Amino acid sequence: MDAYSLDLGSAIIDQFDDLTREKVDYAADPARWAAERAKMHIWSKQREVMESIRDNRRTVVRACHSSGKSHIASTAACWWLDSHPPGEAFVLSTAPTAPQVRAILWRTIGRIHRSAGLPGRCNQTEWHMPTADGQGEELVGIGRKPSEHSEGAFQGIHARYVLVILDEAQGVPDVLWHATESIASNNKARILAIGNPDVTSGPYVDACKSELWNEIHIGYKHTPAATGEPVPEEVADGLISQEWAHDRKIAWGEDSALYQSKVLGEIPKGDIDPWRVISEEDAAKCRYKDTDYEDDPEAVRIGGIDVGGGGDRTVIVERVGIAVGRIASFSDRDPMKTVGNLVHHIEEWGLSKVRIDVAGIGWGVAGRLREVLKERHSKCVVQYVNFANKSGQPKRFLNVRAEAWWNGRELSRTKAWSLAGLDDDAIAELTMPRYEVVDSSGKVKIEKKDDIRERLGRSPDIADALLLAFFDGTGNAEAPDPREAYRNADLQRPTSQYSHFGGPPIPGLPIAIPTSLGGRLTR
Ligand SMILES: Nc1ncnc2c1ncn2[C@@H]1O[C@H](COP(=O)(O)OP(=O)(O)OP(=O)(O)O)[C@@H](O)[C@H]1O
Ligand SMILES: [Mg+2]
Repeated sequence: MDAYSLDLGSAIIDQFDDLTREKVDYAADPARWAAERAKMHIWSKQREVMESIRDNRRTVVRACHSSGKSHIASTAACWWLDSHPPGEAFVLSTAPTAPQVRAILWRTIGRIHRSAGLPGRCNQTEWHMPTADGQGEELVGIGRKPSEHSEGAFQGIHARYVLVILDEAQGVPDVLWHATESIASNNKARILAIGNPDVTSGPYVDACKSELWNEIHIGYKHTPAATGEPVPEEVADGLISQEWAHDRKIAWGEDSALYQSKVLGEIPKGDIDPWRVISEEDAAKCRYKDTDYEDDPEAVRIGGIDVGGGGDRTVIVERVGIAVGRIASFSDRDPMKTVGNLVHHIEEWGLSKVRIDVAGIGWGVAGRLREVLKERHSKCVVQYVNFANKSGQPKRFLNVRAEAWWNGRELSRTKAWSLAGLDDDAIAELTMPRYEVVDSSGKVKIEKKDDIRERLGRSPDIADALLLAFFDGTGNAEAPDPREAYRNADLQRPTSQYSHFGGPPIPGLPIAIPTSLGGRLTR
């Protein structure tokens, strides 16, 4: 066969392809579109999501972590624009933050657009297609972050087939949910709200419970890792794994709000407020007496100290073995008197170690306490903990404070500490703080102390001191003794790096930054 016949042959095949492609109604068969146009494998629940968009005006997806939510939302956007007549379809997407819009949804839209050779051009958050008359271009898809929303921002979208996508829908502001309804008002319009149920109220939860929405649930148990559904390796690699689900069960506990939402894809339930770090129920179970504590003079006695600044109370809590022992608190404007009080209790209670939060005012008190105990030839070790520092488990905890509170949560869940020594007020301190998840894999942050104070009516100082007494975490990095650093350091003006020492400088105390941190010292 000569070259001319070959060219002719492939031209005929191309034309035949074009003709057959025109005949395929991809709008009616999204899975086929994904396979043939995007050359992509979508797993069964992802297919269900796309088919639900085809068949229902409103689809809400309640899914576990890493189940391919964002990926299928991007795929749906591409399918929608490619399978409807040019100029008749429009896609609008949003998510709680700009990076979520740009770096997650639209990055994948751009990738699919390129790899499938879809028409038009796509940038970070916009898709333009040639107009039907071939004379110009028109906007057919946009990603909007919530701050770009104004009353008129979504007006002027008059396409026949509108698809609105809310990714991480649980965090999308209420006002955008309302705006969505007005854009997608015709019968051919579709809304996809896809997210993880790490909230217990709001429009996302309402949608999950409403008959107006077709709800699709994707828990770990539905995913290929659990069912054995065959998927290509590259798809399986991105999705939730058996190991992760198993590890989370141990780390978070099956009853935790985190496990329910991130692994099971369920809206958390079971407690008055499932986002309390330590539930009232768990704390109540720990109010048993540990008889060993009273009978064993040899038991290890450790103290936890929360230093109150500017006349606020300083609290020292005794831990004897696994039990809460004595608690003392005192308020004094003079930090040296606070140190005197602490020394008195440490000696009277026979503590072998005290842990003290050195963030803020605690820094100066801790240094002086160590010095005084040394002068008095005390055997008590002063261990510095900086709640503001990064945790030794940075993927799980935002900071050491989160790690210490989580430790308290674990002790409560497993009844591994005896809280009989706490009164109701102290139990309230322990059970008031809430936690938040700061990333999709479940990294934990504890509510700000100021917010807790507002709800509790006082600062949870006893709880903080208690947690310190029981905290043997990896993140309790020893902060250098400020006076030792002072003696060893070269002299130079301070830099912002003083925060490595656990907080702002204490008036009257030198600011010391070891040379290893690139800092020097000043008064
Ligand atoms: N059908 C698929 N084909 C190829 N890759 C996929 C597919 N589905 C998901 N992935 C990949 O798996 C990973 C997780 O998917 P995705 O980010 O969509 O999950 P998610 O449920 O949105 O996760 P998160 O809980 O973090 O929001 C991503 O790298 C994504 O590209
Ligand atoms: Mg996602």
